[in-house]
Amino acid sequence: MKVKSAVLREIGAQTPYEESQPIQIEELELDSPERGEVLIQIKAASLCHSDLSVMNGSRPRPLPMALGHEAAGVIVEVGEGVVDLEVGDHVACVFVPSCGQCGPCREGRPALCEPGAVANTAGTLLGGGQRLHNAEGVVNHHVGVSAFSEYAVVSRNSVVKVSKDIPFEKAALFGCAVITGVGAVVNTAGIKLGSTVAIVGLGGVGLSALLGAIAAGASRIVAVDINETKLKQAKELGATDTFNSKDPDVVEQIRQATGGGLDYAFETAGVVPAMEVAYSITKRGGTTVTTGLPHPEHKFSFPYLSLTAEERTLKGSYIGSCVPSRDIPRYMNLFQEDRLPVDKLITDFISLDEVNKGFDILAKGDSSRIIIKF
Ligand SMILES: NC(=O)c1ccc[n+]([C@@H]2O[C@H](COP(=O)([O-])OP(=O)(O)OC[C@H]3O[C@@H](n4cnc5c(N)ncnc54)[C@H](O)[C@@H]3O)[C@@H](O)[C@H]2O)c1
Ligand SMILES: [Zn+2]
Ligand SMILES: [Zn+2]
Repeated sequence: MKVKSAVLREIGAQTPYEESQPIQIEELELDSPERGEVLIQIKAASLCHSDLSVMNGSRPRPLPMALGHEAAGVIVEVGEGVVDLEVGDHVACVFVPSCGQCGPCREGRPALCEPGAVANTAGTLLGGGQRLHNAEGVVNHHVGVSAFSEYAVVSRNSVVKVSKDIPFEKAALFGCAVITGVGAVVNTAGIKLGSTVAIVGLGGVGLSALLGAIAAGASRIVAVDINETKLKQAKELGATDTFNSKDPDVVEQIRQATGGGLDYAFETAGVVPAMEVAYSITKRGGTTVTTGLPHPEHKFSFPYLSLTAEERTLKGSYIGSCVPSRDIPRYMNLFQEDRLPVDKLITDFISLDEVNKGFDILAKGDSSRIIIKF
């Protein structure tokens, strides 16, 4: 079938992208789903920093690539062997497909699925190859999804069935920002009732972490960003204190205000300066968790002694250490009970044709989640 898709043609284009147009809206041929795959009509997709990182070269990926991964839609066709989804089901897309068979999958850690990671790096689906092409050849998939498109063919293991009661633009957030942010707090860190927490970087992932920390019973939540709009939004969402990390003495300010730092600090910006702040404001005996996906060559250093003498813990959190089919329904239940109001993250709506402009807005840091509605 013919579909309109947003295809990244150039890495490292000049900004503003609205002028350089590295993403082109193209008509592509989309193949039918193969065994173990489904065809989805995409209803809403949001812009995530991980898409922007492919555009600016922080996450090198093969071109051309059809971007987008944080999305929700309706199943319109199921491939052979898919027995637990049917036409008409609503689904949210997940950015790591998990095979269920490899070592990490068997250990209950689908975020680390080995064939899933290989497929995502190569720009293919979990079953191998691409389903999108034009006269020049194939177009690669972004993390097995390619959701900035009217329709997408994905592995059955790249989607989770969701309630039809949740509007698509809200359901879309759960497959990336929400499971990453909330999962980092409750799965990776496993914070305790009354824990003190800092969130450094207040985009879709960081604000989801903030809401997760409130839901999990954190007693004090320090929100840190370089953008005043975000600090204001964090306060409205329930942060107890806010700090601007452009202040050269932000670490001293936070350590002083909190009596030596926080039990847990989450780095949710994906840049080294944010990671340095997060580590430095974690208290003795505390845990620093990072969700950021910086450029692969960027390095972060810390005083070696502090890890031992202060019994510090440093953890990475990929896709919130989640089991998506377990955690997305849980977090959606909390959302429906008004205990995880992640819809407050949605700040802008755009059309597919405005996607370059959307990434200019995301890059500026003024918005949390920008939704493309189809
Ligand atoms: N671990 C995972 O599974 C996973 C999943 C999704 C996204 N990510 C990554 O998480 C990071 C955040 O993603 P997002 O979509 O929320 O990004 P975003 O662009 O929406 O938000 C990033 C925020 O960080 C702030 N920031 C930038 N520099 C800062 C600094 N020095 N100190 C404090 N704040 C700073 C920005 O102002 C912005 O508010 C990215 O690196 C993204 O690739 C990881
Ligand atoms: Zn994402
Ligand atoms: Zn696996």
